[in-house]
Amino acid sequence: MCGIVAYIGHREAYPIVVKGLKRLEYRGYDSAGVALLNEKKEFLVYKKTGKVSDLEASVGTQDTHAHTGMGHTRWATHGAPNDLNAHPHLSQNGEFAIIHNGIIENYASLKKALIDRGHIFKSETDTEVLIHLIEEIAKNNEVTFEEAVRMSLTQVVGAYAIVILSKTNPNYLIGARKGSPMVIGVGEGEHFIASDATPIVEYTRNVIYLNDGELAIVDNQKLTVKTIDNTIKTPYIQELEINLESIEKGGFDHFMMKEIFEQPRSILDSYRGRIHVNEATITMAGIDAFEDKLKNIKRIIIVGCGTSWHAGLVGEYLFEDFARIPVEVEYASEFRYRNPIINEDDFVIAISQSGETADTLAALELAKSKGATIFGICNVVGSSIPRMTDAGAYTHAGPEIGVASTKAFTAQVTALTLMALSIAQKRGTISTVRLRELLTELETIPAKVEKTLESNDYIKTIAAQIKDTRNALYLGRGYGFPIALEGALKLKEISYIHAEGYPAAEMKHGPIALIDEEMPVVVIATQHSNYEKVISNIQEVRARKGKVIAIATKGDEHIKEQADHVIYIPECEEAMLPLLATIPLQLLSYHIAVMRECNVDQPRNLAKSVTVE
Ligand code: F6R
Repeated sequence: MCGIVAYIGHREAYPIVVKGLKRLEYRGYDSAGVALLNEKKEFLVYKKTGKVSDLEASVGTQDTHAHTGMGHTRWATHGAPNDLNAHPHLSQNGEFAIIHNGIIENYASLKKALIDRGHIFKSETDTEVLIHLIEEIAKNNEVTFEEAVRMSLTQVVGAYAIVILSKTNPNYLIGARKGSPMVIGVGEGEHFIASDATPIVEYTRNVIYLNDGELAIVDNQKLTVKTIDNTIKTPYIQELEINLESIEKGGFDHFMMKEIFEQPRSILDSYRGRIHVNEATITMAGIDAFEDKLKNIKRIIIVGCGTSWHAGLVGEYLFEDFARIPVEVEYASEFRYRNPIINEDDFVIAISQSGETADTLAALELAKSKGATIFGICNVVGSSIPRMTDAGAYTHAGPEIGVASTKAFTAQVTALTLMALSIAQKRGTISTVRLRELLTELETIPAKVEKTLESNDYIKTIAAQIKDTRNALYLGRGYGFPIALEGALKLKEISYIHAEGYPAAEMKHGPIALIDEEMPVVVIATQHSNYEKVISNIQEVRARKGKVIAIATKGDEHIKEQADHVIYIPECEEAMLPLLATIPLQLLSYHIAVMRECNVDQPRNLAKSVTVE
């Protein structure tokens, strides 16, 4: 959680830092703050509870003139979201300032020792402990700024991406990371540091992704990278793939809506160049590299959190249907705490939009330590998961800024579809004819998503009718079940309505007791296997006066008699159902949240990238 941004160079730092914080606000929005280091070697520190815009308003016309500065947008962990706990934090003597994303796990013992030695803390944060430690090490050991930072980090347990400024060393700043992301932008006579590339792309396309355990000592001309144990590294400069348009709203009211409407393109991008319909082949370098292992594999384990876990469930059906491999789908956060049985024959797939989710990373580390082959399906290029895995596949959905995941989910499902089909082909569990049929179908999906999006206005009218409900139920079977879970998650996270996703037939084992005339029940009822059974489940709901909203196959007239509202999606192969049926559910929750005046892009208590366990 938390977003960090820093600048050193020839421009005014404040506007760059504030604009960068706005781009990073999806990572946390409890409070924001900046520290600017001016030519008089003074810190100008401004902090405010709330959004970056609140910070900007409170800074107003106060002095912000400086060419070096840094800022932070916070998702509170240690200490309430208030002005005092907002970053940056200063050392006791005011010499150093720090911004931090992550958690210093041993902060309590460090803090106690520092208090015993006379330190007085102003905030409840773990971060302030680190800057006091740096001050103490600098003073006691009479070492340089850089040495003090490096030595203090050897005492720290936990995760961090930090930037530190020193008043008496105004010509450079120091960034360091372990377990939290950090990107450095290399410009002409200037450098940028940020949690991701979005604050940087406007100024330079040349970036360095700092590795875990590395420090960057950055002035306006030069950049030195070294490890915490003081080994100099050669930085690897990469060219950014994202562009400015992809991180702006492009005429939509919210990023979420923009991202929902981007799905015809993002799905296409996730299979573009990977499928060859005429030859009936799939090229996925990460999968192809493990051809021998995958031919004989006994089990796949998929780990992820939230929406990515739902994508994993879709993956389970796909792998079992086509590649005939047993699959276990695990919440990353549970997996690592129950002594799972993992061995060298296992193929463990981590799914993560951000590539930074702490629980998913930890689950992968566990799998890796047991000798399993680890594979990542991630959206953010250069993030931690792709960097630690044996191989992987990027989803190529482009930056997803709305906190609720939409296009990343359908891109994950697309990547999983390709993986399942590619492995099926390698294992000989699918015929060429069938594979060609499925690839042909996949190529029709972007147009079918486009068609599905045409229901937007109609879905808005349904949203208006159910927006005041306090509960909602989502039902589906087979491939429709993970979609029911995903639909329910979308509703609860952005509109704060309690919603549950259930396998349709499980309803009668408990949740049916909840159904009355006030309960909207969204049912995935497309004409696939289980159609008749789902219709029976709908009747069970109707008999108890529940309001049924059916997601149905275009042309199904019969369902109109069964449901209060019918949202049609184009006919499709059952395995591709998640790619279409998810879209109306995303739109439904979006409109309900807007009508309830919720902050759609930045729902309360949430952050896009959950880098704490
Ligand atoms: C829901 C949502 C979250 C994420 C989860 C995992 O809309 O976005 O549930 O899916 O926090 O995040 P990643 O995919 O970045 O690992």
